Amino acid sequence: MKTSTLDVHITRIEKSRINQFDPDNIQFGKLYSDHMLVCNYENGIWQQVEVVPFHNFSFSPATTFIHYGQAIFEGIKAYKDNNGNPIIFRPDENWRRMNVSALRMDMPEIPEEIFMEGMRELIKIDSAWVPSTESASLYIRPFMVATEEFIGVRPSEKYMFSIITSPAGPYYSKPMSIYVQDKYVRAFAGGTGYIKAAGNYGMSMYPAHQVKNMGYNEILLTDGIEHKYVQEIGTMNVFFIIGNTVLTPDIEHDTILPGITRESVISLLREKGMKVEERQISIDEIEEAYKAGQLKEAFGTGTAASITMIARLTYKDHEMTLRDPETWETVAWLKKELADIRHCRKEDTHGWIFKV
Ligand code: COI
Repeated sequence: MKTSTLDVHITRIEKSRINQFDPDNIQFGKLYSDHMLVCNYENGIWQQVEVVPFHNFSFSPATTFIHYGQAIFEGIKAYKDNNGNPIIFRPDENWRRMNVSALRMDMPEIPEEIFMEGMRELIKIDSAWVPSTESASLYIRPFMVATEEFIGVRPSEKYMFSIITSPAGPYYSKPMSIYVQDKYVRAFAGGTGYIKAAGNYGMSMYPAHQVKNMGYNEILLTDGIEHKYVQEIGTMNVFFIIGNTVLTPDIEHDTILPGITRESVISLLREKGMKVEERQISIDEIEEAYKAGQLKEAFGTGTAASITMIARLTYKDHEMTLRDPETWETVAWLKKELADIRHCRKEDTHGWIFKV
């Protein structure tokens, strides 16, 4: 473990709100832990890092991010190991990805120490909020917004980096129904599909809402030119198992978020000796495999969603129903393998576990 020299000013909450936290009834994104991290960027430098009680912000109505969406974020999870100590899963990858997002949005880079050591301090102080139950975790949401009071269109000269945390249960408790979207587009080459910009999520709400009204959980987006190649589920990367091959869209075209759960799943499957292909996948290929009885398993991966099975996939008026997800072997193996690593029941041979 590196020794940190980061100076964090800590102001503790007067009275913890932990009694509002019911470990047996955790919903996603409803309750926030006692403390948060805040660090402002002004005059070209990051200022004092502070851990303070969770509180509301006060911004001018002319603040840049409100108008032009210079806003990026990350999603990370902390778990308890088998001795009850908190650990964080692969936060260094989130730090790297956040700086890729910052570059594309013309925002300043966040130094590794502020991100990693600041997060460690925050989780240490709020360690009582990290659930011990198997399927729960503490969801960590780092974000950065442009905070200059200025409505001219140019990059802001002031920013705020913050981290909030929230106990989280499963994002989806059941296998999902997915509608393949062939009208609205999330990303195209040269755009921002490969980063975690707030606008990528804002623009997906209307098409997702429309299919929710039709009984689906989410949309699977396709490419912006032919509406033929599958991209991602908006909050998740997507995987299909056809015959003995695992397929997932490649991230070469800057249209797909390079998910950290996606990468972990690919690594685990390849280590197990399974064939994984990262390439363009057309919806026709999936339909043909379905008709031939070769579409064995399908699932989404993400920090919030972890690994969520897809039980129904609808493209135009063709419905593909995948039978008995509870009997799928690869998904079950992946879920157990990842859970064992995250809860430190298995040796961390990949260097994925960040001790608090
Ligand atoms: C995550 O999986 O962490 C995400 O950011 C997706 C969603 C909750 C916005």
